[in-house]
Amino acid sequence: MRKPLIAANWKMNKTVGEAEAFLHDFIPLVKEVRDTDIVIAPPFTALSAVASRIKETPVQLAAQNMFYEEKGAYTGEIAPGMLTDLCCTYAILGHSERRQYFGETDEILNRKVKVARSYGLTVIFCIGESLEEREAGQTFSVLQREVQEGLKGVGPEGIVIAYEPIWAIGTGKTATTGQAQEAHRFIREKLSALYGDAASSIRILYGGSVTPENIDALMKCADIDGALVGGASLKPDSFARLVNFTR
Ligand code: 13P
Repeated sequence: MRKPLIAANWKMNKTVGEAEAFLHDFIPLVKEVRDTDIVIAPPFTALSAVASRIKETPVQLAAQNMFYEEKGAYTGEIAPGMLTDLCCTYAILGHSERRQYFGETDEILNRKVKVARSYGLTVIFCIGESLEEREAGQTFSVLQREVQEGLKGVGPEGIVIAYEPIWAIGTGKTATTGQAQEAHRFIREKLSALYGDAASSIRILYGGSVTPENIDALMKCADIDGALVGGASLKPDSFARLVNFTR
C-alpha cells in the first residue's frame, strides 16, 4: 500500500524566526503521527534552522528547487549536495511557478530529476495544466508530455508525482474530486506504461487550494495518495489538521 504523504510548500514565505515559531506549535500536534509521511519545504534560508528543529520528529525536510550542476560558477544557485548536507531528503522539482516564472523546461527538469536521484533525494515532481490548456481539451496531452519528458531515463524509485492544476493554485478553486481522480488515474496509467507494476507504488499527490475543509474528500479518491499544500500549510493548526486527515 502507498503511505500517504502530506507536504507543505511554503514558497517564498517565512523568515527563520517565523519558521521556528511554526515548528514550536506544529510539532506537538503531529509528534505521534506514524502512518502518514510529513514533509516541509521551507525557503532555502530557513532549511538549516528547520533541519535542527525536526530532529527526532516525524517531519522530513524538502527543498523547493535545486540546480542540476554539482558545483561551480552558477551565481545564486543551490547544488544537490548542499541540500543533502542540510539533511534534506526530498526536493520539489518542476513546480508550475518555476516553469512559468523561471523558464524551467521539460529538458531542464529532466536533468534536475536525474541529479537529485543520484544524490538519493526523493523527488516530488510537479505537473499540471493551465486553464487555457484545460479549456482547449489538452489536459491529458500536457500531463503525458510532462511525465514522459520529465522522467525520461529515470527509474521509479524515489519518485513522487504532484498533480497541481495551475488554475487551482492559490485561487481557492479546487479541482472537484472527480476531476482530480480522473487526472490521477490518467497519470498512473502513464506511469504504468513507463514502469509496469512499479507504478502502483508511486505516490501521486494532489495540489491546488487544498484546505482542512476539502482534504478528507480528496484523500478518499483511489489514486490520490497525499497533498502538496501552499497557503493552508502556513499555519500550524491548519497544516496539522491536513496531516491528520480523516481516513
Ligand atoms: P495552494 O495550496 O496555496 O493553492 O498552493 C498549491 C501549491 O502550489 C503547492 O505547491
